[in-house]
Amino acid sequence: GPGAPGAGLGGGRKGAGAAAFRLSEKFALLLVFSAFATLCFGAIFFLPDPSKLLSGVLFHAAPARAPPADPRPGPGARAQDPLARIRENHERALREAKDTLQKPPEEIQRDILRDKAEVARDQQREPEPEHGLPALDFAPPVGVENREPADPAVAEKRAKIAEMMKHAWDNYKLYAWGLNELKPISRGGHSSSLFGNIKGATIVDALDTLFIMGMKDEFQEAKLWIEKNLDFNVNAEISVFEVNIRFVGGLLSAYYLSGEEIFRKKAVELGVKLLPAFHTPSGIPWALLNMKSGIGRNWPWASGGSSILAEFGTLHLEFMHLSHLSGNPIFAEKVMNIRTVLNKLKKPKGLYPNYLNPSSGQWGQHHVSVGGLGDSFYEYLLKAWLMSDETDLEAKRMYFDAVQAIETHLIRKSSGGLTYIAEWKGGLLEHKMGHLTCFAGGMFALGARGAPEALAQHYLELGAEIARTCHESYNRTFMKLGPEAFRFDGGVEAIATRQNEKYYILRPEVIETYMYMWRLTHNPKYRKWAWEAVEALESHCRVTGGYSGLRDVYLAHENYDDVQQSFFLAETLKYLYLIFSDDDLLPLEHWIFNTEAHLLPVLRADKKEVEVKEK
Ligand SMILES: *[C@@H]1O[C@H](CO)[C@@H](O)[C@H](O)[C@H]1NC(C)=O
Repeated sequence: GPGAPGAGLGGGRKGAGAAAFRLSEKFALLLVFSAFATLCFGAIFFLPDPSKLLSGVLFHAAPARAPPADPRPGPGARAQDPLARIRENHERALREAKDTLQKPPEEIQRDILRDKAEVARDQQREPEPEHGLPALDFAPPVGVENREPADPAVAEKRAKIAEMMKHAWDNYKLYAWGLNELKPISRGGHSSSLFGNIKGATIVDALDTLFIMGMKDEFQEAKLWIEKNLDFNVNAEISVFEVNIRFVGGLLSAYYLSGEEIFRKKAVELGVKLLPAFHTPSGIPWALLNMKSGIGRNWPWASGGSSILAEFGTLHLEFMHLSHLSGNPIFAEKVMNIRTVLNKLKKPKGLYPNYLNPSSGQWGQHHVSVGGLGDSFYEYLLKAWLMSDETDLEAKRMYFDAVQAIETHLIRKSSGGLTYIAEWKGGLLEHKMGHLTCFAGGMFALGARGAPEALAQHYLELGAEIARTCHESYNRTFMKLGPEAFRFDGGVEAIATRQNEKYYILRPEVIETYMYMWRLTHNPKYRKWAWEAVEALESHCRVTGGYSGLRDVYLAHENYDDVQQSFFLAETLKYLYLIFSDDDLLPLEHWIFNTEAHLLPVLRADKKEVEVKEK
C-alpha cells in the first residue's frame, strides 16, 4: 500500500477549486469543457439507470425505527426519455463552459462559497450512529459448511494451514492482545500509524478466517473484545482506505457469516465516521481523516495534493453493503459519485493515472500502475459488477476498457518468455513488477466470465501467465518467497535488483492468484505451488512467537522484520486454506472477496428487475 503519513496536519482543505483563471488557462478550459461535453454525450449511452443500481442495493425490510430521512429527491426522480436527457446534458455542459469563461473572479469566488455551503448541508444529512438500524432478516450464509476434503493428503495439508492460523492467533493473543499487530521476535504489540488510535486490527482482520476454519472459541473471544473495546472515536489520523478494507470489510464479513448484530452495528458506525472524508469539492475523498474532528487531507508525498486511485477506488464494495445493511443510500451515493467524476475525465491512452486532485477533480501526475497506488481500483470495478449479480454494467464496461488499455500499454513479455505488467510513467515504461501486482493474475482469470466468448480463454491464459511469472519470482530466491518488486531489465528476469525491494512481509497476492487459478482451472500445479509457499513460510517466517516478515529473500539466513502483519491472518492463510478445501467452501458465485480477502455476498437483483432488463 501507499507509504507512511507525514507528521502533523498539513495542507488540508485549502484549494477549493481554481480560485482564479489565468488567461492562458482559458483556452485549455474551453478544450476540456468541450471534450467533457462530448464525453458526456457518449458515456450516457452506456450508463445504467442509477435508480436500478441503487434499488438493487437497498433492501426492502420494514424499518423498526425510522431510518434517517433523506430530504433530497431520490435518484429515480429524473427518469425521462434518455435521448432528451442526453441532449439536455450536452447543452447544459456547453452553457456552463461558456458561462464559466465569462465569469469575473468575484463571481467564481462566490461559486466556491456556494459549493462549500453545499458540503455543509451534506454534512447535516449524515446519520447519527445513535439513530439505530432498521430490522433486517439475516439470510443464512451459503457455502460455509466446513467439510473435510475427501483426499486424506489434501485434508492433512489443510489441517496444517489451520494449525498455522492457531500459531499466529495464539501468539497475538499472548503478547499483543487488543493492540493492532504482533511483533513476533520481541513479543509485544506493533502499532501502525495507518489505523491512528484504532486498536485490534488483527482481531477484526482475523474474524472471518477464524470462522471458516471452525475456530469457534477464538471467534467468540474476538467478538467479546469487539463488543467491549472497539472504539472509533479516536483523535488521530487514519488511512480511509486501510480502515475501510480491514475494519469495515472485516466487520461486514463477520456479520454476513455469523449474523451477529454487533458486527453490523459496528460496521455502520464506522462507515458513518468515514463519511467526512468525502467533503471535498469533487467528492473524491481524502486519503487521511481525523475521525474525531472529521478533518481530512492527502498524503504529503502525493502529486500536488492528489488523492490516490487505489485508495478512493477501493471503497465501492464495502460502501454498497453499508447502504444495504443500514437502509441509508448515502454510502452508495458517495461511491457512485466517484465513478461519475472518473467517467467525466479524459483518460490518457485509456489508462487511469494513480493521482487525482480532489479539489480540481483533475488528474495529477500521469503515473499508471496495476500495483501499489492503482491495483485494487481495477479489482473493485470487476467485483462491483460481480457483486451486483452482474447488473452493474457500467462497472463491467469500465473494467474491460481499462484491462484492454493495460494489455496494450503495460503488459509485456520478457525474452525468457515471462509475461509481466510494467509501470507507466507519463509514456515511459518501467520494467518492474511489484508483489502487489501479482493479484492481477487472479483478477484476469476471474474476469474471464464477463468477457466475450472469444476472449474468455485468453483472459484465463493471461491469468495463468501472470501466476507463472509470480511463481518464478518466488522460485528464483533463496527463501522461495517472493520479493516486494522484481525487474525485467539489466539482464535479469523476475529478480529484485535493488536492496530496498528484496523484502517479503507475509504478503498474500501470489497465493491469492493461485487460489483463483486453482478454483477456475483445477490444474494441480497451483496446489503444488501453494504448498511450496507453506513450506517456505514454515521454514523461514515461523518463529516461536508467531510469523515474521523477512528483510531479504535472497540471503541464506533469516533477517526478520519482526512484524506479523494482520493481512497474514486475513488473506495469506485464508487463501491457502481455500486452495486445500473443496470448491463448495465459499463458492465464487456467491461470495466476493474484498481486497483484504473479507467476504461480501453477491447482492441478488430482484427478479422483476431482471425480467424488465431482458425485455
Ligand atoms: C525452481 O528452482 C529450482 C532450482 O532452485 C529448479 O530446479 C526448478 O526447475 C525451478 N522450478 C521452476 C518451475 O522453474
